[in-house]
Amino acid sequence: MTLQTLDAAATAQDVLDVMEQDGAAIVRDVIDQDALRQLTAEVTPYIQTTPMGRDDFTGRRTQRTGALAARSPSCRALIMHPLVLNTARRFLAPFTDRIILHLTQTIHIHPGSQAQPLHRDRLAWGRHIPRQIEPQFNTLWALTDFTAENGATRCVPGSHKWDWDRRAEPDEMAQAEMAAGSVFLYTGSVLHSGGENRAAQSRLGLNLTYTLGWLRQEENQYLSCPPHIAKGFEPELQELLGYTQGNYALGYFTDPERHTPGQDIQPPEAALGRKPRRDGSFSFTEMEALDFSATEQL
Ligand SMILES: [Fe+2]
Repeated sequence: MTLQTLDAAATAQDVLDVMEQDGAAIVRDVIDQDALRQLTAEVTPYIQTTPMGRDDFTGRRTQRTGALAARSPSCRALIMHPLVLNTARRFLAPFTDRIILHLTQTIHIHPGSQAQPLHRDRLAWGRHIPRQIEPQFNTLWALTDFTAENGATRCVPGSHKWDWDRRAEPDEMAQAEMAAGSVFLYTGSVLHSGGENRAAQSRLGLNLTYTLGWLRQEENQYLSCPPHIAKGFEPELQELLGYTQGNYALGYFTDPERHTPGQDIQPPEAALGRKPRRDGSFSFTEMEALDFSATEQL
């Protein structure tokens, strides 16, 4: 079993076609060597002081490091990468008006690391989300080459359409082998896991994941990238972090320490010192049938 690989000239539709079929796709050579070096230099100091995982799932010989939107300008650029972001938006569009960042995490798998158990990322929300809703779009950027020996991500193509209790046979599994600078894209429903590292060198990947604007994020972006840091970002990135309403009324706040007469409930953008960009996507008209008086001042 193999994963389909596209080149960097692929369109979002090309990627979506492969992902519909397999639940995953590789796009090769998306970022060049200079960008790769810069990105690696920005995240390495944080990885060096990160402890190994606490169990077999997080990996006892694997370091997972977060807060990368706040820590790394290069990561911010990758979160906004046109092909990936456009594909993520289109992939999740049937289930949401707006997408948000779900997590940022480097995954550094050391030699001797066992394979992670196969899983579907959507189970982070338990089994509460109806099967027909796909809640997650994942990207795993290769910062080193990903090989069969050094822990390239294991994936079971097509398993996003399986019954959740079906077990994968060994010959149904592929590995996301790809050169550094390539990206592995996969859905929240496809079976996958970090691979065993039987090589002498470690494997470094950057996991940037998107989810539906109305769901709880795995990495809490308001804590990992608080307002005083997010304030300097471009509006589109701020909104991806969650500094905008996830749907009509979702995500408003009241500042408990700075009471301004005549003002109380505010949209998230106010925490960044700006007003929402009016895109007209959420209107009160859609909510008129509901009693939601708490949002009257929004
Ligand atoms: Fe996973």
